Amino acid sequence: MEHERILIERGQRSGLPIIVAVHSTALGQAIGGCRLAAYPGWRDGLTDALRLSAAMTDKCALAGLPNGGGKTVVALPPGRILDDTARRDVLHDVADVIASLGGAYATGPDMGTGPDDMATIAERTPYAFCRPVDAGGSGDSSEATAVGVLASLQALCAERFGSPDLSAHTFAILGLGRVGAHLLGLLDEAGAPPVVVSDVDENKRTVAGKHGATWTDPQRCLTADVDVLVPAATGGLLTAASVPTLRCAAIAGPANNQLDEPATAGLLHARGILWAPDIVVSAGGIVHATAVELRHETSGQATARVRAIGETLAEILRTARATETTPAAAARSRARNLVARASGRLAP
Ligand code: PHE
Repeated sequence: MEHERILIERGQRSGLPIIVAVHSTALGQAIGGCRLAAYPGWRDGLTDALRLSAAMTDKCALAGLPNGGGKTVVALPPGRILDDTARRDVLHDVADVIASLGGAYATGPDMGTGPDDMATIAERTPYAFCRPVDAGGSGDSSEATAVGVLASLQALCAERFGSPDLSAHTFAILGLGRVGAHLLGLLDEAGAPPVVVSDVDENKRTVAGKHGATWTDPQRCLTADVDVLVPAATGGLLTAASVPTLRCAAIAGPANNQLDEPATAGLLHARGILWAPDIVVSAGGIVHATAVELRHETSGQATARVRAIGETLAEILRTARATETTPAAAARSRARNLVARASGRLAP
């Protein structure tokens, strides 16, 4: 068993399955978002929670945070829509499970939740990051996450194409949620040529239009003929079936768990596609939230920390090149070393 603790409870108010997975507290309090999403069955939510919480341990370690990894998943039955009362109930149920861990784990926003939901959780436990700014939290973390992705794209382009200049490269963003939309704005500001974009939600066309982006469907976006693909939606999109169809030269984006399984990193490598590990690229949200809420830094100071994600990625890509391994393997071994050292299993 790799995880320290896994709680699975039927919410007292909501009756819904609430899963909190604490993967590791070796480096400090475990952190990781609260995902509110539909799953065929609660066991699928559990599988997701186990993988996502393990990834959070590596993500925190690589971001240099004194934190471990955890994750909350509320597994909604397919098609279930929560009204305001049901939402409150489930968030209070989540809060009670988190409170029972006594501070070993703190949550934050993730797919399906936002700052207002964190304020609702905070009514019953102090362990919730990213409450709205006027409620005393650090607010929406998606802008900081996008800043981290932008810094990553510069590092990636420098390594793959020899120049960090984003105006000299073409991009496709798969998913225009909060992070994807912010990133589109940042790429536009950086002078990138029209970005290819897609989202399962057709309403996002307006966001695309504002930035002169080229709208397409998700399948075409995945296989777009661009320099860099930016996965910004759900994970698991890079598979043995999809990798042969890709036409990009490099990939970096905020989506969690982009590879369906670790071996897919080898397939990308074999095709000469440089993949920036999502556990490095997507850390902007946790870096910003912990800097503001735990270290009491200003949002500006926190954002400077977020930009350092670019340097971390550059080092990992260089290590991978020098040791003829994949960036995924280089990132994982760096993370494992940091965690093992903290657990006293390895001499410093
Ligand atoms: N979605 C973020 C993550 O899992 C959640 C988070 C943000 C957690 C900020 C804590 C603080 O990376």
